[in-house]
Amino acid sequence: MQDRFLRACWRKPVDRTPAWYMRQAGRYLLEYRDARAERTVLEVAKTPKLAAEMARLPVEKLGVDAAIVFADIMIPIEAMGVSLEIREGIGPVIHKPIQETEDVARLRALDPERSLAFLTESIGLLRDSVDVPVIGFSGAPFTIASYLVEGGPSRDFAKTRALMFGKEKVWHRLMDVLSDMVATYTRFQVRAGAHAIQLFDSWVGAIAPDDYARYVAPYTRRAFAGTNGMGVPRIHFGTNTASLLEAMRAAGGEVIGIDWRIPIDEACRRLGDRVGVQGNLDPAALLAGKDVALARTGDVLARVGGRPGHIFNLGHGVLPGTAPETLAAVTEAVHAYPLPGGLA
Ligand code: CP3
Repeated sequence: MQDRFLRACWRKPVDRTPAWYMRQAGRYLLEYRDARAERTVLEVAKTPKLAAEMARLPVEKLGVDAAIVFADIMIPIEAMGVSLEIREGIGPVIHKPIQETEDVARLRALDPERSLAFLTESIGLLRDSVDVPVIGFSGAPFTIASYLVEGGPSRDFAKTRALMFGKEKVWHRLMDVLSDMVATYTRFQVRAGAHAIQLFDSWVGAIAPDDYARYVAPYTRRAFAGTNGMGVPRIHFGTNTASLLEAMRAAGGEVIGIDWRIPIDEACRRLGDRVGVQGNLDPAALLAGKDVALARTGDVLARVGGRPGHIFNLGHGVLPGTAPETLAAVTEAVHAYPLPGGLA
């Protein structure tokens, strides 16, 4: 297996900087739009052959150094008995949002061997169809909780923060249940063959540092503990996290994922040399054309300067409307970048 992604996660020397992209299997790919024409995104995820093929495509088309399992952060939530849908152009919608202890009590413990057998199959098929590592993933407890409480996407997460501050017992109970779920779910994916795990705490930047320490970090740590000692590197990603970077590092993960709002050299300096760093290219740069995308890619690479433990990625997911050729050109440029003392 071509393993420069895993080597970089462990901060070992690499021949070239590895690259992959969040949402690399998505609407910007014609083949994905075709597959989606007659199915919902959750139906694609639950059809192992199709899910594995969607996850394989970007490896072939973009030349990326890792594949990510085709699923969604809401898959295990549905398996806990929550009625939900994913609305196109909007995101997850929860039919009965969580407000009270009784709502939390209704969540079933996740039994992935029983309810998510399709994932074992799709991870197995994906492993067999690519020569690069397979990344399993989960939402982190806070980001999942935010959907359950808000009932859908939110700009300011006011309901979530109000519940956290005003109904502390409900919040802690919910986070207990979700951190156990994430631990179980990620362990399950590693047993199924995932070589690495990413926790998406996409919306955690909505929280102040003191509140992160009190209401989020202990649960993220418990979620990571599910895969402690399994020999797989874990990536801890969030957006808008400039005030939380050190706290996120302390909460767990061998690699910290950042968005585009912080210069990557500053993030590297603050995170120090015991963790890897992933991300940073503004996804909107890819919509501005190849020249802009390549110039900004060069800037990210120069700022990192060959630091061990760098994984090239975007600051968030690939946007619909991105040209696959632009992403392929960016990948090529990342691979061509000379590393200090590295071979070509
Ligand atoms: O290549 C990949 O990354 C595909 C696998 C994947 C999906 N969802 C499939 C999907 C991954 C890693 C996710 C994670 C996910 N899902 C996150 C965390 C990452 C992030 O973007 O912060 C979140 C917050 C969700 C919830 C969710 N699901 C949202 C916000 C949306 C977008 C809704 C829209 O239409 O814009 C979805 C739908 C979804 N899940 C798509 C894909 C490829 C979009 C395309 C579609 O509707 O078919």
